[in-house]
Amino acid sequence: MESGFAYQRSITVTDLARPHVVALCGSLRAGSYTKMALQHVLEAAKAAGATTDCIDLRTLELPVFDADSQDAGDADRLRQRVDAADAIILGTPVYHGSYASPLKTAIDYCGFDEFEGKTVGLLAVSGGPSSYPDTLAQLRLVAQSLHAWVLPQQVGIGAASEVFDETGAFTEPNHDLARRTRTLGSEIVSYAHIVPIEEDAHVVAVRGDA
Ligand SMILES: Cc1cc2nc3c(=O)[nH]c(=O)nc-3n(C[C@H](O)[C@H](O)[C@H](O)COP(=O)(O)O)c2cc1C
Repeated sequence: MESGFAYQRSITVTDLARPHVVALCGSLRAGSYTKMALQHVLEAAKAAGATTDCIDLRTLELPVFDADSQDAGDADRLRQRVDAADAIILGTPVYHGSYASPLKTAIDYCGFDEFEGKTVGLLAVSGGPSSYPDTLAQLRLVAQSLHAWVLPQQVGIGAASEVFDETGAFTEPNHDLARRTRTLGSEIVSYAHIVPIEEDAHVVAVRGDA
């Protein structure tokens, strides 16, 4: 069937049960709250059966993106790790009302090959109490422009310095925010594979034939 989209991934039952979830962390800061939050998301994903990889962009050499030099530095290593993902979490600090430039650089080194048809979850972390909604909306548009399936459930963490202790644990583990963060990890696993029904099967099901 002509799908109109370039992607067509074949999936086995084992893949469905054990998806690979990759997180990209947009903060390069030591002690990043975004990274702490992503660790909680990935722990929940692991508990739900996933294998995980948290890409710390500090460990990769990624010069400011130049479309004339798309294989610069560690671009290939980055693409290989994102390409290995069944589902992707984009995590970013809020910088001046938007997402952070290291994340944009990493995404620009990637493209449809790494994102199209994959499930993407979003997480934003801000210093102010509630300045993350615009950032999440902007990231959603970016992921959609790459033809990703973006989870409706997303996580915004405000006043980040009050939310985590120095070990990265939630100061209030039973708070709604901690629960929502863990839920993002379990949901990215539940929806890691959006498998379309074949057109013919759909027609048969609607008609009620055999
Ligand atoms: C350049 C810059 C811009 C920022 N802009 C905002 C902002 O617009 N709104 C806000 O609430 N916090 C803002 N912050 C605070 C960060 O969102 C906050 O410190 C966040 O925890 C950083 O994420 P990280 O801990 O993962 O590095 C800004 C911080 C920096 C460094």
